[in-house]
Formats: sequence, C-alpha cells, structure tokens
Amino acid sequence: MPSTKIRKAVIPAAGLGTRFLPATKAIPKEMIPIVDVPMIQHIVEEAVRAGIEDVVLITARHKESIENHFDYNYELEDSLEKKQKNDLAEVSKKIGKMCNLISVRQKNPMGLGHAVLCAAPVIGNEPFAVLLGDDLIDSKVPCTRQLAEIYEKEGASVVGVMEVPQAETSKYGIVGGNMLNPKLMHVDRLVEKPSPDQAPSRWAIPGRYVLSPKIFDCLRETKPGKGGEIQLTDALQLLAQREKLLAYAFEGTRYDTGDRLGFIDATLAFALRRPELASGVRDIMKKHLNGVV
Ligand code: G1P
Repeated sequence: MPSTKIRKAVIPAAGLGTRFLPATKAIPKEMIPIVDVPMIQHIVEEAVRAGIEDVVLITARHKESIENHFDYNYELEDSLEKKQKNDLAEVSKKIGKMCNLISVRQKNPMGLGHAVLCAAPVIGNEPFAVLLGDDLIDSKVPCTRQLAEIYEKEGASVVGVMEVPQAETSKYGIVGGNMLNPKLMHVDRLVEKPSPDQAPSRWAIPGRYVLSPKIFDCLRETKPGKGGEIQLTDALQLLAQREKLLAYAFEGTRYDTGDRLGFIDATLAFALRRPELASGVRDIMKKHLNGVV
C-alpha cells in the first residue's frame, strides 16, 4: 500500500456549464459566486482545510480566469495598498497563497472519469481526493477530511454518500453493498444514475471521493458508459472488484449548486451567516414573501 497521507486533490472544472446559460456563455461556471466568493474557491477552501497541499485543476479552453483567481493580482493589490485598503489587498493575496494549483487541460470532453484520468501524471502513486465543483458541502469538519480519515484508518478508498429519496437516484452515482455500521458500507456495486427500480440503495455520491491510485488503471480500462462518457462510477465498480471500497455517510449539508434552486438555496444560507448581511437579507426575504403570499 502506498503512503496513506492525502496531500493532493483533483478538481474537475472542464465542463461547459450549460445548465447555467446564459451566465456561462463567457465566464466559467466555477467563477459564479455564492454571495461574493466564486464556487471554485469554496471547493478549494474545503480541500485546503482538509490538509490538501496540491490542487490539480482539470480545465479546458476559456477557463483561464480560474487560474488567474488563484494567482496574485499585483496591479489590484498594489493599487489597494496605495489607497490604504490593506484589508482588501490581503483578501486578494490570501487567495494567491492558498495552495499549489496545477492545471491540466482535458482536451476532449469525454466525461468525469476521463477528466480524473488526466490528473494521473501529476498524482503519481499516492492516494488523492476528488471534489466536484457542483456540490458544496457545508460541515464543521470538511467532508474531504472526514473521508481522508477513513482512508488513513482503513487503508481503503472511500466515497462520501448521502441518503436521497428513491425518486432521485437517477441524478447520482449510487452504491450498494454490506453495512459495516450505520454510517459505513463495504461497497460491491455502483451504478451511475440508475432509475429508482434499478438502484442498489438510496445512498448517493454527491461528488466527494478519496481514492487509491489503482483507480487510474481502472479508468484506463473503462469503456464509455452512461451518456457515451467515461464514468468515474464505472471505474469505481472495477476498483471495488480489486480492492476494498467503502462508502461513508458524512456529516454536513450538501447544496447542489449546479442546479438553479440549489444555487439560490446555497446563496441564502451563506448570506444569512454573514454578520454584516444577515439582517439585510432577512428584511429582503420578508419583503418578497409579503409581496407573494
Ligand atoms: C457526477 C457523477 C455522479 C455523481 C454526481 C454528483 O454526475 O457522475 O456519479 O453522483 O456528479 O454531483 P453529474 O452531476 O456531473 O452529471
């Protein structure tokens, strides 16, 4: 077994973001903010809080603004400092210092599994985390840290799961297997977006994984599946036949920010916890609700 410390994370960010058109016509969907923090920064912050040092961003054409966001912006920072706005300059600089960002281009959009495989040369032979940008998970202990702890203790790959209504299984990768305790499953089956009658359970994967590097061989052997794409879920099924794979029901609230209502939900939740915004947001909500009901 290679080293068990989780130091690297892969964040796929190559998608076209068509569910958010027209906003995503000229800017990457990852740069759309929840309040004033781009979605991708929330994801990178989770990874960094979980102890990740190197973030491998899988990008595509027209995604340069993500790289710029995690770089310094000398002109902006210098001009803020000259105007004595040191706090704001620090906000900008802090993002530049957050982590080592390594960009890898996914030249063809061949699916999530293919995007993760693009990171293989940078990850090498060590376990790593995968965080999907459409899933924002709000928790005291970062979801990725919760999974990393299971990996470090059990020496096995682990996917984060949450229970979903039977009718919603077709939106997720779904796991099946034996329950080891009420929060942990030994997985022997995974199905990508099954119809409710085909789902092996109601445990769905909302975009958090800590994986052994053996997943790369599995991805290389995985043929296109659902939607003609190389699916990470299918490669995980192969991994489960070769090595122990666990599913862990993490603690935390998940927001589906890839969906417009989920995005609004996350925006309100994050705005309401900001002391300088909370009471203003409450007043705005009251005003709108009074107008509607
Ligand atoms: C992807 C994965 C799916 C997972 C989901 C979580 O699907 O393929 O297994 O459950 O992310 O958000 P997507 O939503 O990108 O189609």
